[in-house]
Amino acid sequence: MKETVRIGFIGLGGRGTGMLGELLECDGVTVPAVCDKYEDRARKGDEIVFEKTGVHPDVYLNHRELLARDDIDAVMIDTTWITHARIAIDAMRAGKHCAMEVGGAASVEECWQMVRASEETGKFCMLLENCCYDRKEMALFNMMKKGLFGELVHLAGGYEHDLRDEICLGRENRHGRLYNFQMRNGELYPTHQLGPISKMLGINRKNRYVSLVSMASKSRGLNKWIKENKGEDYDLADYAFNQGDVVTTMIKCANGETVVLTHDCSTPRNYSRAYRVQGTKGVYMEDGDSIYLEDSTPHAGGWRHDPEKFDKYLEEYDHPLWKKYRKDGIHAGGHGGMDFLVLSAFVESVKLDAQPPIDVYDAATWMAVTVLSEQSIALGSSAVPFPDFTSGMWIDREPYRRGQFCLEEVCEDCFNPDDFLTSSVSTQVGE
Ligand SMILES: NC(=O)c1ccc[n+]([C@@H]2O[C@H](COP(=O)([O-])OP(=O)(O)OC[C@H]3O[C@@H](n4cnc5c(N)ncnc54)[C@H](O)[C@@H]3O)[C@@H](O)[C@H]2O)c1
Repeated sequence: MKETVRIGFIGLGGRGTGMLGELLECDGVTVPAVCDKYEDRARKGDEIVFEKTGVHPDVYLNHRELLARDDIDAVMIDTTWITHARIAIDAMRAGKHCAMEVGGAASVEECWQMVRASEETGKFCMLLENCCYDRKEMALFNMMKKGLFGELVHLAGGYEHDLRDEICLGRENRHGRLYNFQMRNGELYPTHQLGPISKMLGINRKNRYVSLVSMASKSRGLNKWIKENKGEDYDLADYAFNQGDVVTTMIKCANGETVVLTHDCSTPRNYSRAYRVQGTKGVYMEDGDSIYLEDSTPHAGGWRHDPEKFDKYLEEYDHPLWKKYRKDGIHAGGHGGMDFLVLSAFVESVKLDAQPPIDVYDAATWMAVTVLSEQSIALGSSAVPFPDFTSGMWIDREPYRRGQFCLEEVCEDCFNPDDFLTSSVSTQVGE
């Protein structure tokens, strides 16, 4: 295992600058090179690295020049949605492991290219789906593995986030979301809940998604926001946005479970990922923070209108990674700590030169939902087949790597109370 790793950083918008600072907090990480196509943003990256380390990185405006260096172990890609896959493919072909921020794919072809690049080069491609490391999501995973929900039947989730200002002011703020809402119509941001859902369902490991159907509502929210905030004369006031305000997607699994995803970013609303985990023994629902378990909820089987609050279960079923993380003091980072955990998982994989807990097959599968949903909607909500990016290996995959950051099982035995985040390594594998 390497003690230190050198990571190049590409994409320094709002998210990139935050994640760069957090990456530099991980043990043994140096960032010798930063890149953004806008010079002021690339310079901001330089400032962040200098402030944290006292050393100036090299600054690039073209990611290919950064990738041509031979002193970098991995790159982190924090660019816009439609550039993640292209840069990841370039990175792997240039001999670097990579991690990408979340977003959907623009084509099924680019998902295949990511898979081929990883298989042919032996370099990994991790999707930085931080929600897989959220405390609640991890506790629910722990509960599912302990059998509290029985056999899983149905899962749901979504990205329900009022982003009207961020979308509508995309040109003023040089932000990438606006163009996607203008020109596309689909489940644009599937992975925040699909990541945890896929790990619950064992997708690409003895289960897989087989087909998908999407439906989009009409589009009203962005025009209304623009008229109210930018005036009737603003040039986008009556723009015919393609993206429906609420997009609903249903996915069928090979093992019979169903998944429903909701994308809702252009209406006034509270934030929710609307997680729902439903099995033969009970159900958890994020909205209302409620849980109902046949074996333990008081009055279960009788007065069924009375669920419990999930918080009661959180302490008892906290994932060991979170128990340790809370004991040691949560890193003062983004999104309640899950950003630091997903970065730590990435850094550990680079140090070990080993597959990450969210690999290229996960990335291709989860990201493909965007383009498949666009196809389904364009075809009048027809069912579309889901590609098998493992080419049959889901039936009999190579074992996964066990460890503290493992997302296939809860590896209790890998936790050493005195030694957190730096020696979580396990050489054991699991089926
Ligand atoms: N996981 C999370 O919780 C979370 C939160 C916020 C954003 N995100 C994701 O992070 C990513 C970035 O988000 P953002 O809000 O910072 O977006 P942004 O549009 O503000 O920033 C993207 C940056 O990438 C740069 N870029 C684009 N193409 C490039 C290229 N070829 N080479 C170099 N630089 C390039 C742009 O110039 C821009 O500065 C998005 O995918 C977003 O969905 C994730």
